[in-house]
Amino acid sequence: MSGAGPGFRHRHLLGIAELEAADIVQILDLADSFLEIGERAIKKVPTLRGRTIINLFLENSTRTRTSFEIAAKRMSADAINISGSGSSTSKGETTLDTARNLMAMKPDVIVVRHFASGAPALIARHVDAAVVNAGDGTHEHPTQALLDCATIRRQKGRIDGLEVAIVGDIDHSRVARSNALALGKLGASVRLCAPHTLMPRGIDRLTGDVEGRVRAVSTLDAALDGADVVMMLRVQSERMGGEVPRFANTREYARYYGLSTRTLARARPDAIVMHPGPINRGVEMMPEVADGDRSVILEQVTWGVAVRMAVLYLLGGGAHGEA
Ligand code: CP
Repeated sequence: MSGAGPGFRHRHLLGIAELEAADIVQILDLADSFLEIGERAIKKVPTLRGRTIINLFLENSTRTRTSFEIAAKRMSADAINISGSGSSTSKGETTLDTARNLMAMKPDVIVVRHFASGAPALIARHVDAAVVNAGDGTHEHPTQALLDCATIRRQKGRIDGLEVAIVGDIDHSRVARSNALALGKLGASVRLCAPHTLMPRGIDRLTGDVEGRVRAVSTLDAALDGADVVMMLRVQSERMGGEVPRFANTREYARYYGLSTRTLARARPDAIVMHPGPINRGVEMMPEVADGDRSVILEQVTWGVAVRMAVLYLLGGGAHGEA
C-alpha cells in the first residue's frame, strides 16, 4: 500500500481546509516541474509505474475527470474510470459498498467526484488507498483551487498581496470555498461577490489562516474595482431543483453580474480573467471576454494536468519512482 509521498504530511487530499500554506506551495512547486512533460513529444515518465488509480466519478465532469486520467497515464500508472451511469450505484449499491468493493481490487489511489458533500471523507475512513476529493457537492474542489493558484502564480509571479474577485453562485460553489481558503492562506485578499440570494451567510467570517482575508460584497463594481484577478463562476441551476428561484431570469443576472468588456474595465488593466468551467456564455461571462486576450481559462485546464500529476505523485508513492 502506498503512503504519502516524499515529505508530504497528508495521506489524503480531501480539502484545502486541511492544508497549510507550505503544503500548497509544495504541490504548486511540484506541478511547475511536471508542466513541461506535457510539451514533450513522448508525454510519459515512469514515476507511478505499477500503481493503480481508480477515478470514481459519480457526478458529471469533463475537465477534472479527463485531466486526472491524463495525469495518471503521463506518470505510467494504470488508470481505471468509473462513472455513475455505468456502475452498480445505478442499481442501488451504496457509495461505501462501491468503495469497499473497489478497495478489494487493491488500488493505490481512489479519486472521487460525488454529488454529496463529505462523500470522499467518508470513503477515506473506510479504505486503505489514498483518497483525492475531485469535487464533493457544495463542499470543496481542492485540485481546482490548486490549479487556479498555479495559473495565477505563473501569470502574476506571486499570490501574496493580490486582490482576487470571485463572482457568481457562491452558495453552491465548492470552487469558491476551496479558492477562498487556498488564496487566503497564500496571502491574497479575496472578494466573494453574489446576489444576496446566492451568498451563504457567514462566508466572510472564515477563521484560522484566512481570517480577515475574505470578504463578501454584493455588487459587481465592488468586486472588480482594482482587482488583479477576476474569477467568474456559473450559476448551478442543477443544485436548485424545485427551489424558489434565486433570481428573476438569466438576462437580469447577466445584466448585474455578467462580465463584459465594459464591466471588466473596473478591474486593473492587467487583470486576468478565469473560470473553472463549464461556462454559460452570455450569462456570467460574455464571449468577447471568455475568448479575449485577458482570459487564461484554457491555461487553467493545462495546469490541471500538472497539478493532478503532482497530487498523484505525492499521494501515490512517487518517491519510489523517478520523475
Ligand atoms: N472545473 C470543473 O470541475 O469542471 P468539470 O466539472 O468539467 O470537471
